[in-house]
Amino acid sequence: MSSPDLLPLDTPAASAALVALRDVHLTFGTTPVLRGIDLDVHRGQAVSIIGPSGSGKSTLLRCISGLLRPQRGSVTVDGIRVDQLTTEADTIALRKRIGFVFQQYNLFPHLSVLDNLTAAPVRVLGRTKQEAEADAHALLKKVGLADKAHAYPGQLSGGQQQRVAIARALAMRPELILFDEVTSALDPETVGEVLNVIGELVDDGLTCVLVTHEMAFARAISDAVVFTEHGVVVERGPAEQVFSSPVSARTRAFLSRALSGHTGTRPPAYAPWHAAFASAAFAV
Ligand SMILES: Nc1ncnc2c1ncn2[C@@H]1O[C@H](COP(=O)(O)OP(=O)(O)OP(=O)(O)O)[C@@H](O)[C@H]1O
Ligand SMILES: [Mg+2]
Repeated sequence: MSSPDLLPLDTPAASAALVALRDVHLTFGTTPVLRGIDLDVHRGQAVSIIGPSGSGKSTLLRCISGLLRPQRGSVTVDGIRVDQLTTEADTIALRKRIGFVFQQYNLFPHLSVLDNLTAAPVRVLGRTKQEAEADAHALLKKVGLADKAHAYPGQLSGGQQQRVAIARALAMRPELILFDEVTSALDPETVGEVLNVIGELVDDGLTCVLVTHEMAFARAISDAVVFTEHGVVVERGPAEQVFSSPVSARTRAFLSRALSGHTGTRPPAYAPWHAAFASAAFAV
């Protein structure tokens, strides 16, 4: 974790945020999904977005990565106006710099783990096969899968496949990674191994935005937490503050539902931070 809080939106330093969203509005058909979102993420920060299903969390991540274009407001990543990209080349250039890991790992089933990790660095970034393979082996070691380089995705557990997907995103050396509920499709016993990997990346200073239903995890690793509902930010602040003394009654209600499992939230299966945080995570 780095700085303790999101900087206030109106300070000059806010313009130096790696990710800056201002008054972002997005409507699908006649359904307003994002209704004026402001968000800053600074380099080295881990920011978690929590909120009920349908509140617009995935839509927000898609706006940051340029997959969706808001009708109003601005989305800036490292000074680039993502919402104004017009050419395919510019969009591809942006995507090279942003990793995106989804609930579904989407590995290439016909490629080995090693080839899954090296395909894009070789084809898109122009790395030599040798360089890309050296990188891939180091990344597999980092995610605890050094011995799986020559396995195929179908031979791996869900948790292992998700760790490969994270390593594949890292192989592009992104400046920012977006994680969208990466543990939601996993068996409970493999959730912890994926969360541990993400926790280590955050400790290493990776800038990331996480959408997660793992409340104890969000509390443990985030510099800041943003609670969204009905397309607006209801509350934001340092993780400790949002979890231990939320200002909004809506946040309090959401967190207490999360505790009772009514949002689909479940405590992590195992993780170094679990014992320390699990009992305190829902003290609201
Ligand atoms: N491509 C789309 N076309 C039309 N409506 C969409 C589209 N994508 C999302 N929506 C709608 O936008 C709203 C917000 O969806 P989003 O996926 O961002 O929510 P979420 O907060 O990520 O929810 P969850 O926690 O269930 O993943 C939902 O009502 C959803 O049905
Ligand atoms: Mg979602």
